Amino acid sequence: MKEKINNIKEQINNFEINSDKDLEKFRIDFLSKKGLLNSLFDDFKTVPNTEKKEIGQLLNVIKKLAEEKLEEGQNKFSNQQTKQVEINNDLSLTEEHIEIGARHPLLIMKNKIIEVFAKIGFVIEEGPEIEDDWHNFSGLNFPENHPARDMQDTFFIDKEIALRTHTSSVQVRLMENQKPPIRAIMPGRVYRNEAISARAHCFFHQIEGIYIDENVSFSDLKQTLYFFVKELFGQDFKIRFRPSYFPFTEPSAEMDISCVLCKGEGCNVCKYTGWVEILGCGMIDPQVLESNNIDSKKYSGFAFGLGIERITMLLSDVKDLRVFSNNDKRFLQQFQKL
Ligand code: PHE
Repeated sequence: MKEKINNIKEQINNFEINSDKDLEKFRIDFLSKKGLLNSLFDDFKTVPNTEKKEIGQLLNVIKKLAEEKLEEGQNKFSNQQTKQVEINNDLSLTEEHIEIGARHPLLIMKNKIIEVFAKIGFVIEEGPEIEDDWHNFSGLNFPENHPARDMQDTFFIDKEIALRTHTSSVQVRLMENQKPPIRAIMPGRVYRNEAISARAHCFFHQIEGIYIDENVSFSDLKQTLYFFVKELFGQDFKIRFRPSYFPFTEPSAEMDISCVLCKGEGCNVCKYTGWVEILGCGMIDPQVLESNNIDSKKYSGFAFGLGIERITMLLSDVKDLRVFSNNDKRFLQQFQKL
């Protein structure tokens, strides 16, 4: 009997409990109804009276040993589970906090801009992000080998296919598929091979707009953009146009608004000019209309393209473009209530 006890004692000592499965096996092997310890206690009945005291003590020691080992294991492995059960049963606890997601600030701004243009009859159109040379460049009057192609550093997939560098590619798709009057805005992601910094990224978002009809003039372009600025930024904003160059518009312009932060007084956002640039625009070059089978004697049109990041940064005082794609919850959650 003593030998048997020592043997079981050794088994207990050598048993390694490394998981809750081990723990359960230990309990079943040694401490359950049919476990080894119980069988020892059964044997104890047959021990002669003279030895009962000594064997009884040995049995108690070994039982304690097993129980302590079990408890130690329970603390290690089943603690979390039991605690969890206790918490679940605690009716005095306040309700579990459900985290509410937030729309991305760029999506919020895109929707706001779409809403403004929808009020004056612009419909939404979209085009592919992987584009061919024709839609991104040639159809927009960028001749091959023309330096204007270098205005936008392109990610090429092969010689003829690239990630679109601007949403102007969707203009070409609309012109080839629709007949004037065409009045649409085209939101989307664009890609440029630029070093990532606080002010530049290899992808960003634009909204393109076009209006093609009979007798569309530069004053229509101005009034449309004037309406857009008043709706989005508020009544106090001034706009100005500066002559610029794009291969697909003639004349071309860039539009500035009075600085959102200093209201024209001069600050470091507007580099003390009182103005910030928000978009490029112009009258669609008749050559572009013709190469897309629209009669340029009958129809004229305007186009504009704006950066969603830029406008969001101005309006929410975000100073680093990278935060839009870092996926930092702390940044994104600030827009929960917008
Ligand atoms: N596509 C031009 C750019 O990305 C912007 C633009 C659009 C200019 C439409 C004129 C007309 O810089």
